[in-house]
Amino acid sequence: MPGSVFDRTPEQNAIVEGWAPPEIDVSRAHSARMYDYYLGGKTNFPADRAGAEQALVAFPHLRVGARENRAFLLRLVRHLADLGIDQFLDIGTGIPVEGRNTHDAAQAVIPATRVVYVDNDPIVLAHARALLTSHEAGATAYIDADVREPDSILGHPKLTETLDLDRPLALLLVSVLPFVPGRATEILARLTESLAPGSYLGLSHMTADFDPDGVRRLIDTYRESGIRTQALTEKGVAELLPSGWELVEPGVRNLPQWLPAPDAELPDPVQVPAYGLLARKV
Ligand SMILES: C[S@@+](CC[C@H](N)C(=O)[O-])C[C@H]1O[C@@H](n2cnc3c(N)ncnc32)[C@H](O)[C@@H]1O
Repeated sequence: MPGSVFDRTPEQNAIVEGWAPPEIDVSRAHSARMYDYYLGGKTNFPADRAGAEQALVAFPHLRVGARENRAFLLRLVRHLADLGIDQFLDIGTGIPVEGRNTHDAAQAVIPATRVVYVDNDPIVLAHARALLTSHEAGATAYIDADVREPDSILGHPKLTETLDLDRPLALLLVSVLPFVPGRATEILARLTESLAPGSYLGLSHMTADFDPDGVRRLIDTYRESGIRTQALTEKGVAELLPSGWELVEPGVRNLPQWLPAPDAELPDPVQVPAYGLLARKV
């Protein structure tokens, strides 16, 4: 397919199954594309599907877990918008899901919301236009950067052009910290240190608390696909919080149990091996 990814419509980028821009290595599995496969998307390639199928053998509930993770993200954003938050920094964005992205949920409450998305996977960059469909009252921007280099995000001109760092914002790290094993605490400390008081931090993180053997098999399978991941205990997830930040109700919860809809049927925690939390800078 000719032309830059930015010359095509989001629909073209989204529906051309099996096509990838030349800079994308489709010979190896990537976490964003495996996640897309679990969610039933079409932005994945044979190596991703092979890796994802192996992971599904190791941990058969993965599709439930992925759906619940995305549902948590959307509940979290909606909750923050209801609290009046109108700026978001969403790191580890993932491949866009039509109508179910951070700006869609936030701008449904506050149309003037401004969102900066960050991911390091070229396939997410290729589909970024679908993230740039902001309500005209607000704004969205996309930064191609690695969370392991927080200064490349904090110092990026698109960040400072789009968000007002002197006002509270919400920093989202939903299911991305498991992909930076051993680095989460240090990265969080740097990303949060200059945020304005009243800012929020929302994150989810994989855990082996509910099914130690299954999650160990899952981590092993990802490693065999070349992707290093980590799981944390409930205490370990709570300890991720930098000093000066306090947990907000309902605290650290298995994802489906984090402010569920009143009529929601909650899956067994074994099926959703992750905790979520929301915290506020005092
Ligand atoms: C499981 S997906 C989560 C997507 C989205 N946050 C959600 O919850 O639906 C993890 C995302 O983190 C991204 N990611 C992994 N390692 C990263 C890194 N070092 N820097 C930036 N993004 C990363 C992947 O490319 C992928 O898009």
